[in-house]
Amino acid sequence: MSEIARLPGLVTVHEDAADLVEAVAGWLLDIEFAAITATGEFRIALTGGSTPQPLYRALAAAPWRDRARWGRWNVFFGDERACPPDDPRSNYRLAAGTLLDLVPVPAERVHRMRADLADLDAAASEYSTLLAATCPASGPAAVPRLDCILLGLGENGHTASLFPGTPALRVGDRWATRGLADYEPHDRITLTYPVLNAAAHVAFLVTGATKTEALLGVIRGTVPAAGVRPVDGELRWFLDAAAAGSI
Ligand code: 6PG
Repeated sequence: MSEIARLPGLVTVHEDAADLVEAVAGWLLDIEFAAITATGEFRIALTGGSTPQPLYRALAAAPWRDRARWGRWNVFFGDERACPPDDPRSNYRLAAGTLLDLVPVPAERVHRMRADLADLDAAASEYSTLLAATCPASGPAAVPRLDCILLGLGENGHTASLFPGTPALRVGDRWATRGLADYEPHDRITLTYPVLNAAAHVAFLVTGATKTEALLGVIRGTVPAAGVRPVDGELRWFLDAAAAGSI
């Protein structure tokens, strides 16, 4: 039996990236509809990296664009690099160029991590406070609960900016903290495990054959992405055939 079935949560394998995008978009907008129906709001954290770009572009076009109720979206970020928001490496810039500048989400509902500030600890603390002020509290620790968190998977098994062997992995009482990447820009801000694991719906988007070791690391519990185990929420793995076939 393929090792894929040993990933935690619900795993779906899609023929190619286009098929994966359609599946994620439908899944995401079902969550959006239910959240807005229940609370009037939809709170989502976007991931950086290259994998989500086709998804963001698809959401900004028909039919998905016309189905979403953009005025009720609250957009957060899973992590951000320590660079200006107009820097090509910025996750905010990536999301703005492929989605946020193309759809009518009110600017005040897009919550950028200010990782361009000199004091990253202050910027992380500011984001923790923002999450607490804008999201419902979950559990005895009152962890901010988002409706949906999109995540990528790095080749070393990192997710967001939770990198192997870094202090961010041990932060359990704050909702955002400094991250340290093993590639430029090294300095980051990242959501912490408590927030990832308090979410109602979490999805990893993984494509291509280069993530084999990372996926095996999740199965073995030896990489940071293995620590994403929603306490009272859904965990999904959207893989393309190349990623799934590699293990
Ligand atoms: C980032 C992301 C990071 C990303 C993985 C996978 O800031 O780059 O948050 O966690 O999701 O590195 O990146 P790819 O999708 O480009 O493989």
